[in-house]
Formats: sequence, structure tokens, C-alpha cells
Amino acid sequence: MPLLQIEGLTGGYGAVDIVHDITLSVEAGEIVTIAGTNGAGKSTLLRGLFGLLPRATGRVRLAGQDLSALPTEDRIAAGLACVPQVANVFAHMSVLENLHVAAGGRIKGTDLERVLALFPVLRDRRAQSAGSLSGGERQQLAFARAMVRAPQVMVLDEPTAALAPSLVGRVFELVQALPAQGVAVLMVEQRARQALALSDRGCILDQGRVVMQGRAQDLLRDEGMTRLYLGSDSTL
Ligand SMILES: Nc1ncnc2c1ncn2[C@@H]1O[C@H](COP(=O)(O)OP(=O)(O)O)[C@@H](O)[C@H]1O
Ligand SMILES: [Mg+2]
Repeated sequence: MPLLQIEGLTGGYGAVDIVHDITLSVEAGEIVTIAGTNGAGKSTLLRGLFGLLPRATGRVRLAGQDLSALPTEDRIAAGLACVPQVANVFAHMSVLENLHVAAGGRIKGTDLERVLALFPVLRDRRAQSAGSLSGGERQQLAFARAMVRAPQVMVLDEPTAALAPSLVGRVFELVQALPAQGVAVLMVEQRARQALALSDRGCILDQGRVVMQGRAQDLLRDEGMTRLYLGSDSTL
């Protein structure tokens, strides 16, 4: 049984469906990348996964537990974590306050030590406002916030999108380190080739439908698909 199973997810914001019958799984220890052109429905799919779409049908299961009818907060409590595409930290709050909020109250000492051990730079910066962090440090705080509740699956929406090119590699390293922490990854990325290169499996969305799904290596080897959906090598 996969750790995370999305089954037949269909839904959207208004009368028109944006994503159609999406079936996708993540096994324990895996990194799975969702690729696809702008507007393909990647972020919408993630909203459906978290119960944030106004209208959705289909099933979401995490470690066998059916989350489909649960509100977002309960899905997070069950072990899903999210690093959103934008606004993933509170800029006016300190690093420590950001971690308190992520914990849903005062963060436990053991949880604080666990995330500071993962992201040591935050220890020195913990009294500093998140808005004063560098881009790379800020992204580490976003990851740390998602790690506070020791999730089973981390969901990342374009984690490198807002970063200076020099920081992209560092963020991919953070992603790659997650399975060793017992956290599987479901990631949407525009830098699809780079993301697939460090993924176990991948899925390509087009106009809200899965057009290809399989081992990341096989996706990268499919020249027709990569040319059509993964852009040129300039995304590297
Ligand atoms: N909040 C929203 N309300 C209505 N339509 C939306 C909303 N967000 C996205 N859409 C539409 O859903 C489609 C897919 O968008 P999105 O999921 O953001 O794509 P991607 O993340 O792949 O770039 C687009 O046509 C977009 O205009
Ligand atoms: Mg998006």
C-alpha cells in the first residue's frame, strides 16, 4: 500500500473542473515530481490534496487513513505538510515565532531541537525577523515550519521558483535530504528536468490530466514528452 494515494481526484473552483481524474501515489521514502506547463493544474491538484478546493471528488489516503472527507487541519495533523508556492513564512515575525505558529502554539522543546538540528542556520537567526533572512535562509525556515509536526509526506509547490539561481541547488539538496528524515516528498517543479533527476517517479500534467506517469528516469528519457512538456534545457 502506498504511503499517500490520490485516487480519481476531480475538481475545481467553480462550475468547470480544472483537474480531471488524477490518480497518483507516493511510497514511503520516495520523491515524486509533478511537472507540466503553466496553468496545467499542478497547484490546483495540491489544493485538492489538502482539501482546499471549493469542489472536489475522489479519494486521498495517507498510510491507509481516508482523508477525503477531512478538513485541511485534520489532513495536516494526519501527517501531510505543505510548503506553499508563495508566502510560506510570516515576514514580520521572528524565526522562532514562525516555528511557534507552525506548531499551532508554543513549539515543544524537543521539536524545536529537531528542526534546528536539521537547519542549523536558523539557530543563530532565531530572534531575527523572517523578513530579514536571505532567500536561502527563508526557504530553510519554510521547510523547518513544515517539519515541525514531523510529517509523513512533505508537499512542495515550486520550492525553487522565487529563488536566485545560485540558491536552487541548495534547495534541491534540502529536498533530497527529506527521505532520510523519514519524510516522503511530493513536489511540483518548473525546473522539471532537475527535479526529475533527483526523483524516484514523476507525473506530467497537461490541462488538468495526467499525460504520463512513471519512473523519473523513463520520463527524462522520453524525448517527445520532455520536448513537449519539460521545456528546453534552459530550465536546468
Ligand atoms: N483561485 C482560483 N480560482 C479560479 N481559477 C483558478 C484559481 N487558481 C487557479 N485557477 C485556474 O486553474 C487553472 C490551473 O491553475 P494552477 O493550478 O494554478 O496551474 P499550475 O499550478 O499548473 O500553473 C488555470 O486555468 C487557472 O486560471
Ligand atoms: Mg502553480
